[in-house]
Amino acid sequence: MLNGRFIALGVTGSIAAYKAADLASKLTQAGASIDVLMTESATRFITPLTLRSITGRPVFIDMFDPGTEMAEEHVEIARRASAVIVAPASATTIARLAHGLAGDMVSLTVLATEAPVLIAPAMDGQMFEDEATQANLAALRERGYIVIGPAEGRLASGRTGPGRLVETETLLGALKQALGRDGDFSGRRVVVTAGGTREPLDPVRFISNYSSGKMGYALAEAARDRGADVTLVSTVTARPCPYGVRLVGVETVAEMREAVLAACDGAHALIMAAAVSDYRPAERAGRKVKKGPQEKSLALEKTDDFLLEVKGSIIKVGFAAETDNLLENARAKLKAKGLHLIAANDLTAPGSGFGTETNQISIIDAAGEVEEVPLLSKYDAANRLLDRVAPLFEKG
Ligand code: CTP
Repeated sequence: MLNGRFIALGVTGSIAAYKAADLASKLTQAGASIDVLMTESATRFITPLTLRSITGRPVFIDMFDPGTEMAEEHVEIARRASAVIVAPASATTIARLAHGLAGDMVSLTVLATEAPVLIAPAMDGQMFEDEATQANLAALRERGYIVIGPAEGRLASGRTGPGRLVETETLLGALKQALGRDGDFSGRRVVVTAGGTREPLDPVRFISNYSSGKMGYALAEAARDRGADVTLVSTVTARPCPYGVRLVGVETVAEMREAVLAACDGAHALIMAAAVSDYRPAERAGRKVKKGPQEKSLALEKTDDFLLEVKGSIIKVGFAAETDNLLENARAKLKAKGLHLIAANDLTAPGSGFGTETNQISIIDAAGEVEEVPLLSKYDAANRLLDRVAPLFEKG
């Protein structure tokens, strides 16, 4: 989604300016063309040469430089940008923007653009918490600017508190969300489940499966990138949640059921990528079970198949991970669970299934028609599935 887009990156005078190089690099690798704009103060922290070398494009600092293409049309960057991101945004730049002062290339571009503007503050904690900065940030939010962070942690001053520039991954996520805000899922609430449920035997052991949650996370990210408001119900909370996605951490089938039924209230689509246990231990020991001389057997009871319980006009999409009779089993599940679509997954196919970075899915619709999707990254496979969900909204 960044490929071929013009992104304006404003860098201002903060010690975190060096991190802008990482952001510029990741954006360039993703295929975007980056117009870097720097304030004079920013050039004291990081050289224009560094950013020019990373982006392979000129860096703009002086509004009146006759040598640049800006001399005649100095708002051209603001016009061609699909998004403007100021990272790091110093207290001074935030103040300038709040008051509409366009005295440097960064604030000029922000003021002159119609594209979404993202502001990532980075400064010492006390400067951030100062009433003036807070009031300026509130004014920017009020005007529709997207303020990301700052994160809390160790600051250059040696103090600890809010003021750190957020991670590059977070900035990339926020950019993608901003770029996709008018996408085909705009205004749609989507619930995605991810990971394998865990059913405890005692306080230290559980029954689970090999699901890594990667497919669910890819679906959540892809839906966000198309403008959806996404809730991710996941058992793998150690993984960073995609920016802008609401994460609900769960462990057992009962917890997932409760979270999904609550999130589905008023939602437009449910995509069940989680591998949900069909059985759980009939008893859960309150203390660690000790070994003994005898063999042991385990009594299991059935869990709730809650996909069946989700009712209403919501679009329901399931996954069927199988080792044999793939299409036949998937079709039976689609019918039994009243689904609109099911993604059938052959666990034995190379590059597919649990833990892999790629997936080969076959999408079956309510009429039983099969679409064979080739082996793709999980993000691309997720988008192919979402391509099939989007038209169902219109019908529903
Ligand atoms: N599912 C569910 N609740 C369960 C079990 C499964 O909502 N208790 C959902 C899964 O998230 C998936 C779909 O139902 O989207 C199919 O799950 P799967 O485990 O493949 O099918 P089962 O119906 O459990 O059948 P089996 O395990 O025998 O293959």
